[in-house]
Amino acid sequence: MNKRIIESQLGATVAVTHFDHLGARYGGKVRDTYSIGDRLVLVTSDRISAFDHILRQTIPFKGQVLNGVAHYFFDQTKDIVQNHVLAIPDPNVTIARKCTSFPVEFVVRGYLAGHAWRTYKSGLRTLCGKNLPDGLQQNSKLPMPILTPATKAVEGHDEDISREDIIRRGILTERQFDELESYSLALFKRGSECAARQGLILVDTKYEFGLDAQGVITLIDEIHTPDSSRYFYADSYEELLSRNEPQRQLSKEFVREWLMDHDFQGLENQVLPDLDDAFRVEIASRYVELYEKVTGKSFAPNTDQKPIERILKAVEAALI
Ligand SMILES: Nc1ncnc2c1ncn2[C@@H]1O[C@H](COP(=O)(O)OP(=O)(O)O)[C@@H](O)[C@H]1O
Ligand SMILES: [Mg+2]
Repeated sequence: MNKRIIESQLGATVAVTHFDHLGARYGGKVRDTYSIGDRLVLVTSDRISAFDHILRQTIPFKGQVLNGVAHYFFDQTKDIVQNHVLAIPDPNVTIARKCTSFPVEFVVRGYLAGHAWRTYKSGLRTLCGKNLPDGLQQNSKLPMPILTPATKAVEGHDEDISREDIIRRGILTERQFDELESYSLALFKRGSECAARQGLILVDTKYEFGLDAQGVITLIDEIHTPDSSRYFYADSYEELLSRNEPQRQLSKEFVREWLMDHDFQGLENQVLPDLDDAFRVEIASRYVELYEKVTGKSFAPNTDQKPIERILKAVEAALI
C-alpha cells in the first residue's frame, strides 16, 4: 500500500473509545468492549501491545486489519465450530454474542518457535505435558500440531498448563477439554490450509472459547490475526531453516525484536521506548501486507479523518 496513504492517517488513528453510554466498558490491551444485553460490541483500536504492554503510539489501520482478518477467518471456519460474530457494522467493529469465556488460551503450535523454542532450548522436552523429540532446531516443524494451553492470567503473563492440571483444578471438565482441543486442532488445520494457499505457513496461534446464552460452545475473541498468530513465508522456509537463519515473518515479531534492541522486553524497571512516525508507517504497511497476503484480497482502507465519530454512528445504527 502507498506509504502516503498511511502517513495521512497518522493523526487520525483510533487510540481509545469511550462509548460508555452504550454499556459497561472493558478496555483491553487492543480492544474496547461494551456489554449490551446478550451482545458485546468489540471495537478494535489501533493500539499495539507487546510483552503485555500497550505501546504509547498507535498504528494506522491496524484495527481495520485485525478486525478484517478475524472476520475473514471466522467466515472460513464457521462450519467447524460456532463463532461469536453477529455483525460487522464498521471496519473496526464486531458485534458478537456475549459469552462466558473459559479461562484458558488454546495455543496450537505446528512449529517450534517463540516461547516453545525458548523452553526447548533450555533443555526441557515436555511442553504442557506433551513430549517433544530430540534434535529439533528453532522453527522446526513439529511431528504434528500440538495444543499447549495457557491459563488466562488476569494480570501478568499467561502460564503453560497441562490437560491434567486444567482438569484437576476444575477449570474445565475432561469432556469440555477434549471437545475444545479437537476444535482447536481442526481450526488450526483449516488455518494452515488457507495460509498454504497464499504461500504462508501458520506457525502458531491461540484460540479462546466460551459458552453463549444457550450454553453452546462458541469461538470468541479473534482468530488467525497477526496479533494472535505467527506466520512465515513458505517459499523461503526450508532454505532459511537449513542455514539456521531467522524466518521471514509476517507478524508483529519484528516489533518485539525492535523493542528488545531498544532494551525493552516488558521487565520491571525497563523503559518503554517511543515509536517514531517512520516506524509507525513501517509497522502499518506490514499489517496491511499481512491482510492482503493472508486473505488474498486487496486492503480497502477507510481513510476517514474522524474514525471515532464514524465508529460510534455505525454502532448506534447497528444496535437499533
Ligand atoms: N464473545 C465474547 N464474549 C465474552 N468475552 C469476549 C468475547 N470476545 C472477546 N472477549 C474478551 O474481550 C477481550 C478483548 O479485548 P483485548 O484487547 O483482546 O483484551 P485483553 O487485553 O484482555 O486480551 C478479551 O478479554 C476477550 O477474552
Ligand atoms: Mg486479547
